[in-house]
Amino acid sequence: MLSLLLILYIPTISAVVTLYQLPYYKGQSLTLNQNDTFIQDIRWQLMAIQSIKISQNESFITYDKDNFQGNNATWYRSVIYPGNWKDRIRSFRIVPVISPPIDPEKQNSIQAPWYFMGTWEGFMMVRMSAQWPGYPECYAVNGVNCILRWEVDEMLSVVEEFANNDKQNSNISSTTFNAPCGPARYEHWGADPLWCNKAQYLLRALANGERNLNDLKCVAKNNGIIAQFQSASLCIPRTDTTYWYACKIFTSMDLCKATVTKFLFTSPYMTDSVKCCGYNDDCSYRSSDDSSSGVKQGNIFWFELC
Ligand SMILES: *[C@@H]1O[C@H](CO)[C@@H](O)[C@H](O)[C@H]1NC(C)=O
Ligand SMILES: *[C@@H]1O[C@H](CO)[C@@H](O)[C@H](O)[C@H]1NC(C)=O
Ligand SMILES: *[C@@H]1O[C@H](CO)[C@@H](O)[C@H](O)[C@H]1NC(C)=O
Ligand SMILES: *[C@@H]1O[C@H](CO)[C@@H](O)[C@H](O)[C@H]1NC(C)=O
Repeated sequence: MLSLLLILYIPTISAVVTLYQLPYYKGQSLTLNQNDTFIQDIRWQLMAIQSIKISQNESFITYDKDNFQGNNATWYRSVIYPGNWKDRIRSFRIVPVISPPIDPEKQNSIQAPWYFMGTWEGFMMVRMSAQWPGYPECYAVNGVNCILRWEVDEMLSVVEEFANNDKQNSNISSTTFNAPCGPARYEHWGADPLWCNKAQYLLRALANGERNLNDLKCVAKNNGIIAQFQSASLCIPRTDTTYWYACKIFTSMDLCKATVTKFLFTSPYMTDSVKCCGYNDDCSYRSSDDSSSGVKQGNIFWFELC
């Protein structure tokens, strides 16, 4: 009897789920108790739910209709953005932690390398999923939100960064739990985003040998080291979210080379991954290649494109 009381009591003394009005656990927040189940019950104060913190021992199940009806989604860990559930939660349950459908332990043991890819949100790491054959996955720690970085070489330390977090905090909330493409994604997002198609296309091209590393060269220019497409005014962009053209300036040759090795592109369709050099970038290439008329034709083509 005593233990039963304890079990009933413990959940009510710790905050188990906190909803936030803005992404990244910002804005107004609302802490839910174990017994809360309906949006109406908790005297709704938030305009939208744009991030959710879930304590280690709980999972959160959301429904888009009252009384646990309609579509549902299970949230295994805290999310900085709740996919397409921002305005959709009508009822929910807080339940003891549910094991993720994608076993993080297994994922961590997979040694398949990550590749860097630019998206409109930033750079992310992608690879083909071992668990969901035929679908890409991105590096994530909650199974929902791809880890994004503003500059491409920041991706080089992301895995280590989260592994260190994990060791320091000795908790599971920061260990790898990759976000899938395909049906496993739909409960949170409804559909695949553009990055899934792009990743699939670029990873296939990689498997087909269409990424020739000789085509993307690290070269020292007036402004610094850039990764430039051979014989053209194209380079790895400074960020993939900017609307102006500017090459990424690497602080060392090693950093540039390490990045290029991981960077996804296809040699036949370079412009799918790299962008035009900016006005201030020194993307001159003629000096060394002037002798080849073939390259010149190429030059004209790329020049017009940029
Ligand atoms: C939660 O529900 C249980 C069972 O209905 C009840 O005994 C308990 O007092 C409730 N806790 C809160 C904080 O309302
Ligand atoms: C989660 O559960 C474990 C094992 O039951 C327990 O040791 C730990 O204190 C719990 N953590 C929290 C934050 O309640
Ligand atoms: C979520 O919806 C699916 C499909 O309708 C259903 O099979 C499943 O039982 C639901 N899960 C929960 C926890 O309500
Ligand atoms: C778990 O790790 C996260 C991210 O590193 C950290 O913010 C959080 O405070 C940690 N939680 C605990 C209970 O140590």
